[in-house]
Amino acid sequence: MRLKGNRITLGVTGGISVYKICELVRLLKKNNFSVQVVMTQDATKFVTPETFRVLSQREVLIDTFEYTSPERVEHVTIPQETDILVIAPATANTIAKMVHGIADNMLTCLWLAHKGPSLLVPAMNHNMFTHPATQRNISVLKEFGVHVMEPDEGALACGTEGKGRLPAPESIYEEIVHLLSTKDFKGKKVLVTAGPTREHLDPIRFISNPSSGKMGYAIAKAASRRGAQVFLISGPTNLPDPPHTKTIHVTSAAEMYEEVMKIAKDMDVFIMSAAVADYRPKTYQPSKIKKETTTLTHIELERTPDIIHSVAQKKRKEQFIVGFAAETDNVVKNAVDKMKKKNMDMIVANTATQAFQKDTNQVIIIHRSGETRYLPEMPKEDLADEILDELIQKVRQISPSHTS
Ligand code: CTP
Repeated sequence: MRLKGNRITLGVTGGISVYKICELVRLLKKNNFSVQVVMTQDATKFVTPETFRVLSQREVLIDTFEYTSPERVEHVTIPQETDILVIAPATANTIAKMVHGIADNMLTCLWLAHKGPSLLVPAMNHNMFTHPATQRNISVLKEFGVHVMEPDEGALACGTEGKGRLPAPESIYEEIVHLLSTKDFKGKKVLVTAGPTREHLDPIRFISNPSSGKMGYAIAKAASRRGAQVFLISGPTNLPDPPHTKTIHVTSAAEMYEEVMKIAKDMDVFIMSAAVADYRPKTYQPSKIKKETTTLTHIELERTPDIIHSVAQKKRKEQFIVGFAAETDNVVKNAVDKMKKKNMDMIVANTATQAFQKDTNQVIIIHRSGETRYLPEMPKEDLADEILDELIQKVRQISPSHTS
């Protein structure tokens, strides 16, 4: 993660979904954020302050005149120590008070004194959420510059169905990270390919490889957090679509080629991490192939389109292309040859056995100029940021109008 700050003040108001916020605090702490919880009196009826005190490893604030030491005026001091104010769940009542500047508890006082970014996560009964009063109040808060997460739809704790559920803690966590991330890719359009491709012989059998897509998805997520407009073109994986990205799902190399070429001319950066099949069956059998003989010798394979090579052939000089090389031996030499042959600007090389399926990877980043960086083994999420750090410097050189 490349963050502008990691200090979160978390306002918790009185709704049944408060229990989910315990998990959010745990997630934030696990990822080294500092969390100051501020509860309303009603919130304490659902989960005790003690739970949040233990999870956040800090005193929880509730009353306006509470203080952790005599020289502090908490509702004024805390905003000065806050990188983002998150209010989750936000009840209709607290939302209405925020709109009108009613400061009758620690949280609403603190909201008035806070000048930085804030994230509101409303959660309530469907009728309360869709009521014109609540809807108007939410639009006023958006005009004030507050970021608002839409509630999820589904079964509600009050026994009804509809829109009003608190989003999953992981989604709120991702939104916080998104808002706190540096925006050094702002204004850049980034195309990422990820996952394997499947080349079908018949409706149920195909040629493929064990790529999980984790590396490409981590890159798409990190680029989007850092402000890029991201287009992820993915082969079949078990991963959820990364938030804030346009994800296009494909199956075969031919489909991936088609989707990439449709948008290629508008992109600034290409990061081609997909493990594209190099060959496909020359003929596709529309009905299942039956086992009629002891050996099967009639499967003829033909080359699939080379996507990165086709992009490079039409590339403008301000466009930047990153390829991947998964090799079993002579990793650096094979990667450099591949980079030159396919006219890439940078290549990320690794050993094939190390790359697939795992959550970590160890790579070598090689630039067209010959500049080479050997990185230690690290989680793919961290590696994604390392790769983006490496390429944004070069992108700035070829596209000097870039501002961050
Ligand atoms: N690639 C592509 N289209 C293909 C095959 C590969 O765009 N049909 C891209 C991959 O996404 C990767 C790079 O080319 O960024 C290198 O892929 P790799 O399979 O390692 O290399 P190949 O050129 O296919 O060479 P080989 O399989 O012979 O090692």
